[in-house]
Amino acid sequence: MIGVFDSGIGGLTVVRALLDRLPGHDITYLGDTARTPYGSKSAATIIKYSLKNTEFLLRQGARFIVIACNTASSYAFQAVQDQFKLPVFEVIGPGAHLAVRRSKRLRIGVIGTRATIASGVYEAKIKQENSQAQVFTAPCPLLVPLVEEGWISRRETTMIVRNYLHPLKTRQIDTLILGCTHYPVLRHVIQRKIGARVALVDSAEAIAGQVADFLNAPPPTETPICRTRRLTVFVTDVAEQFRRTARLILQHPVKIHQADL
Ligand code: DGL
Repeated sequence: MIGVFDSGIGGLTVVRALLDRLPGHDITYLGDTARTPYGSKSAATIIKYSLKNTEFLLRQGARFIVIACNTASSYAFQAVQDQFKLPVFEVIGPGAHLAVRRSKRLRIGVIGTRATIASGVYEAKIKQENSQAQVFTAPCPLLVPLVEEGWISRRETTMIVRNYLHPLKTRQIDTLILGCTHYPVLRHVIQRKIGARVALVDSAEAIAGQVADFLNAPPPTETPICRTRRLTVFVTDVAEQFRRTARLILQHPVKIHQADL
């Protein structure tokens, strides 16, 4: 079984990509909804929560861990790997790799939580891929609560997205990394506001390919089966809104269990 965690609902965008790419695998997801958001917390707290989340998933029988959260990937990847000695996947490296491959002019924008942007991890990984790349970043702290609330197509959300993206637009980026797993839910608004010519890079898509390679999965096929039967979802605080937004992301209703960490 693949263990996946995020601070809340955003990691379900990664789960969706994993279910699409690996229809035969069981996935257990933990959304730490009681303690979300991680993006405004200190490194020590993000590491502490990530270790607890991993411990919980191992108790459920996870064989390896996917950190479906950019914030936790930025600060806790090494700690999780050191403590548990098992394969751990994070979302930053695959996103940076995909962005450099897609970008024609190597002018790459990154949006994420305050903590992710402050960590400087994206710049470092992108420069490792190609030292010529120019990286422009913008923290977007209000987007996570908007997604958790399910405010996807509200006028207020569009205005906030436009404001956040304005500085990146003036930098004439040609590629934009959605550096938070909540943001693919707002993909349409983001694409509209940044402009059709800017390629969007979604961590979910990037990491699903990496996990598939690790598992030697066969190439993707059309699988019109009920993939969510393979999915067990835990949250640390059950809320009705989570159920609604989860359904929106997975396009399928899902049973939600309470987790005691
Ligand atoms: N989904 C998380 C990420 O990818 C962030 C959410 C939060 O701030 O807790 O960074």
